[in-house]
Amino acid sequence: MTNPTTLSFASLSAVAADGTAVIFAEEGPKLSPAAQDLDKKTKGRLKDAVKVSGFKGKKGTSVDVLAPQGVKFARILLVGLGKLKDFANDDWINLGGVVRGKLTGREGDTAHVYLEATKSELSVEDIAAFALGAQLRGYNFDKYKSKKPAKDADAKVLKKIVIHCADSRAAGRAYRPERAILDGVNFARDLVNEPANILTPAEFASRAKALTKAGVQISVLSEAQMKRLGMGALLAVGQGSENTSHMAVMQWKGGGRKGGEPVAIVGKGVTFDTGGISLKPAGGMEDMKGDMGGAACVAGLMLALAERKAKVNAVGVIGLVENMPSGTATRPGDVVEAMSGTTIEVLNTDAEGRMVLADCLWYVQEKYKPTAVINLATLTGAVMVALGKVHAGLFSNNDDLSEQLTAAGLETGEKLWRLPLGPKYDKLIESKVADIKNTGGRWGGSISAAQFLQRFVKPDTPWAHLDIAGTAMAAESTDINRSWGSGFGVRLLDRFIQDNYERR
Ligand code: BES
Ligand code: MN
Ligand code: ZN
Repeated sequence: MTNPTTLSFASLSAVAADGTAVIFAEEGPKLSPAAQDLDKKTKGRLKDAVKVSGFKGKKGTSVDVLAPQGVKFARILLVGLGKLKDFANDDWINLGGVVRGKLTGREGDTAHVYLEATKSELSVEDIAAFALGAQLRGYNFDKYKSKKPAKDADAKVLKKIVIHCADSRAAGRAYRPERAILDGVNFARDLVNEPANILTPAEFASRAKALTKAGVQISVLSEAQMKRLGMGALLAVGQGSENTSHMAVMQWKGGGRKGGEPVAIVGKGVTFDTGGISLKPAGGMEDMKGDMGGAACVAGLMLALAERKAKVNAVGVIGLVENMPSGTATRPGDVVEAMSGTTIEVLNTDAEGRMVLADCLWYVQEKYKPTAVINLATLTGAVMVALGKVHAGLFSNNDDLSEQLTAAGLETGEKLWRLPLGPKYDKLIESKVADIKNTGGRWGGSISAAQFLQRFVKPDTPWAHLDIAGTAMAAESTDINRSWGSGFGVRLLDRFIQDNYERR
């Protein structure tokens, strides 16, 4: 991961005269106090620029004044806020991203952001959200670029963002947990962006082990151990690959002994999905290096929870396998037995994610008796047909859990849309030769995949499945993300846990 920009907080009156000054105006335009001040110092240059450009302070608009006289800033960037009373949910984090997107290092290596409103005082939470948005936008995966501007002393990169605000110490404190979330999202992004020749199942497991430094307990099951546990579904997916399969179990015990049973998060970690013997077409197959987006989210979430010392007990289980065609690969028509005892007829070896999750889901329920299980998976192309790349698909056997997750989605901007489950869909996966088959036909493909997963969920376990095929990788450009691997789900589930599980 590379983000060469550090972020700090300072008071509004702290001296600053280098690089870019970022100031704000509400709709009108009503210039903030710092903006008024800069207008005075530049002898009215700012208000002239406002007039000439027709800037009204509308949200998303901005005015640039380059090389102003009377101040040492090389650039003044005036950003419109629109109406502050309309701000909700992810507006502050997105604003941080928008501002970061307008900054370069050309005008100097520092940006001073005077984050204040005209009248009211901004909350430190809003300021911390702005800061997180700015830093999320600054992420860039340039690990494999042999020339790195970020490391070149002469290159013009933005090195520092200083947020000037009313109570900078309180803002700094409020930013600390956001900083943990930033690390979690970027950890997930790095994993998703990493090519599959580097990020094998073993390599993924070893990177997950690095979370011990943050206080996460981790253990990794080998193929032999999984075989002994009867995980025939997961192992069938990996058996065609030279790279051995693993299952990593991550535990964060922040709830103490009284915290009780953990909430469980399960992730699909197919480090590359060729489709297996049911080989995928060549076009776009490279995207399947991101087929571990669910597992990446689980690892990123565990890091975020540990770094911000969340008062919760959480367990993360990820199934790490590579789906390859070879002489040892599973064939269409093969029958395998999952850890739960359910037998599966493998009709299509490209429907592998559900097989991996089947054993992860069963294992986590048997071993940890979790209060709820949430799984994430880049499970079906069909979810993109249904929802595009805006919402992830949500399936659940529990209305409360569904509502909690949907709410966290709206708060964070990582949105979910619930799709149905039911007996008529469940019928689609009945098999003639085994208990179930691993595909349910062309129609409702995301739903029959979810029905398959539900076969491995105990009826009294509150469970939700998030199909993140459209949101975890090849992500749409947003205000806070320009990375191919988005890190989707880390902020969502962190908020979900904060809102519903943490002891205060
Ligand atoms: N990993 C894919 C789903 C996917 C496709 C994720 C495109 C992201 C982008 C999954 O393993 C898969 O191949 N699903 C099949 C299921 C089918 C064979 C029943 C699909 O969606 O076509
Ligand atoms: Mn597949
Ligand atoms: Zn897959």
